[in-house]
Amino acid sequence: MKNKLHGFLLMAAVLFVSAPVLAQLNIIPLPEKVEERGSPFVIRAQTKISFEKGLKPQAELLAAALSPATGFDFILEEAKTATKGIVLRTGNSGSANKESYRLSVNKDLIQINGQSSAGVFYGIQTLLQMLPVEIYNKQRQKSMNWQVKGVLIEDAPLYPWRGMMLDVSRYFFGKDYVLRFIDMMAMYKMNTLHLHLTDDAGWRMEIKKYPKLTSIGAWRGVGPERTGGYYTQEDMKEMVAYATLRNVDIIPEIELPAHALASIAAYPFLACTGEQHEVPAQHFISKDIYCVGRESTFDFLADVFKETFAIFPSKYIHIGGDEAVYDRWKECPHCQKKKKELGLKTEKELQVYFNQRVQTMVKKYGKTIVGWDEIIEDGLKEKAVGMVWHDEKKAFKAAEAGHYSVMSLTGYCYFDVAESSIPGEIKAAGWLPPISLEKVYQLNPMLKGMDEKYRPLILGASATLWSDQFIHGTILQELPQINEDRSEKYFDYLTFPRMSALAEVCWTPVARQRWTAFEQRLSTHYNRYDQAGYGYRLPQPKLISNEKGDQGYTLKLENTVKGAEIRYTTDGTLPNVHSAVYNGAVTVAKLNDFYAITVMNSNQYSLPLYFPEKYEKFKKYGEFVADWSPSKVKGKDFAVFEMNGSGKISANGSYTLSFWFTEGTSRLDIQSVEIFKNGQKIAEDVHEGFTGGTKKDNEYKFQISNYETGAAFSIKAKVRGDVSNDSNGVVMIRKN
Ligand code: ACM
Ligand code: ZN
Repeated sequence: MKNKLHGFLLMAAVLFVSAPVLAQLNIIPLPEKVEERGSPFVIRAQTKISFEKGLKPQAELLAAALSPATGFDFILEEAKTATKGIVLRTGNSGSANKESYRLSVNKDLIQINGQSSAGVFYGIQTLLQMLPVEIYNKQRQKSMNWQVKGVLIEDAPLYPWRGMMLDVSRYFFGKDYVLRFIDMMAMYKMNTLHLHLTDDAGWRMEIKKYPKLTSIGAWRGVGPERTGGYYTQEDMKEMVAYATLRNVDIIPEIELPAHALASIAAYPFLACTGEQHEVPAQHFISKDIYCVGRESTFDFLADVFKETFAIFPSKYIHIGGDEAVYDRWKECPHCQKKKKELGLKTEKELQVYFNQRVQTMVKKYGKTIVGWDEIIEDGLKEKAVGMVWHDEKKAFKAAEAGHYSVMSLTGYCYFDVAESSIPGEIKAAGWLPPISLEKVYQLNPMLKGMDEKYRPLILGASATLWSDQFIHGTILQELPQINEDRSEKYFDYLTFPRMSALAEVCWTPVARQRWTAFEQRLSTHYNRYDQAGYGYRLPQPKLISNEKGDQGYTLKLENTVKGAEIRYTTDGTLPNVHSAVYNGAVTVAKLNDFYAITVMNSNQYSLPLYFPEKYEKFKKYGEFVADWSPSKVKGKDFAVFEMNGSGKISANGSYTLSFWFTEGTSRLDIQSVEIFKNGQKIAEDVHEGFTGGTKKDNEYKFQISNYETGAAFSIKAKVRGDVSNDSNGVVMIRKN
């Protein structure tokens, strides 16, 4: 027994020495190799930053990162070697990977060796994550001990493309936000910023040869509704310089042949009909796209690329390529003449021809085209990069043809989608089911079934922050704590913490990824976002147990955020920063009177943890779609009750929609249910049913056979209260 216990203790001791090092360091993405080494280094006012020739910008960047919070003015010195202070050098990073670095810390010296300046920059980011969270604060933090653990870290990324896409077209993010977003990316060693510069709803880059692209194409709406803006070429050069120093490659996207209406509004000759259009203020799939049959289209693009490449040094140019509808090409004499000349059978082949022309055009600048997965078709002359968003098969097709892929899958990477379906959750887009933090962490860019030999062709992953739904102005929910700088803060919220999960997916081999360990490390990062002034989503308190006893329900919660606290109410009201602080189990008489939130630094709080009792019992009928209350029931005459079906209707198949009365004096009578896709009716079930004290035929069945990714679905029911409008209930949907 004693021996056994001894053995157990020994084993526990071993576990404790080997495991906690990483847990204590809390670095995201998880570094490749970490060894604990001797005494810590303390950054002081006298600490000198020495740098090898050529690394002055990185040394200045480090000083600029450390100075505000520490209040120290660091002395920078170019030196071949140094035995004290912080030293930045290239070479000897322990890997041939250009982005690799070695960081060693002891009592006297912090040495960062990057395989290139990029590696040096990443060593700096790791160092910042090892310092107290207050290091990210822009205000001086008094009485701090700026201590860094003694360690040796050797680290390199798995994938070379660790990306984010910002849709600056549908919502114009000013230059300052873009620069700040680059900082957010750099914190997690993300290295590719794809700027969606053009789309139907706005052209955002100054092109000197075509001034109307921005004088007309960058603005939409009239009067007080008018919005827009664009980047001057100087702005974009500044963005490139800022990004380059932070190892971020900015890839510009010029969308073609579709999503181009802003430029067509500016120069109608670009489209088949030549008709005048307006820059749209609502998102829709425009039929008017660039004409493939006229040379003037290619002349225009050649001019645009010439100016684009003088600004963006990236070896890539993103050409969009998604969601082209061919109605106009089918009717256009120029397009049809071209099709005939080339002996092509379909309009899709015309798009391949379009892509080939563009490939040839950009080749002389040494550029590789990137496009949405639609561009991966037979016939591309040169190697291309497909961003796989809605069709995984295209990644396999790309690999077999020797093309590259970047995973941008809608199920993992569309950060404009909500993180949860909790009421009040922030989202920019509602056409997809929620993408939780854990879901992002489950992404593996090497898709299931992909042959290992294709690994070099899988470049990594990229998340999207689309803003097309922002311009509707209807989907975003207001949360009081982040209602200033509306869109920017919302985008921060959609980004953090999900980008940290994506960063680890792109950096750390799958074999070393552990969700629970990641969650543990992340628990310390929320306060870093807060200190840095970024918006972010706090998780709700975690429910550990819920036990029913004589007094009611005893609830045990866990706070999963370091530096935050849990506050709660037991009277059915939403908690705030003044509510009771949770410090141990709470007993409540009625479960659905209990609400708890996570609060950080008294100013940022999570969505509530609560028990939506009245809907729980309907779960067997599927997913919640909507609830009705007297305001939504017109009374004794049938009227339309409209529900959002996007994200609920998420594939072809048969569905059952059911109505469940919960309270009130009137039962709900239902006459019909109709399903609309992008405003067009695609299915219906017309029969009389009701739900009240009793129910009859309260299930409505319909079939979806032409599901389309990205389409908006709405559900319209004709309903009335049998006596008055005093009726409440819930609508559920189930896929059969
Ligand atoms: C896309 O979401 N249309 C690429
Ligand atoms: Zn045409």
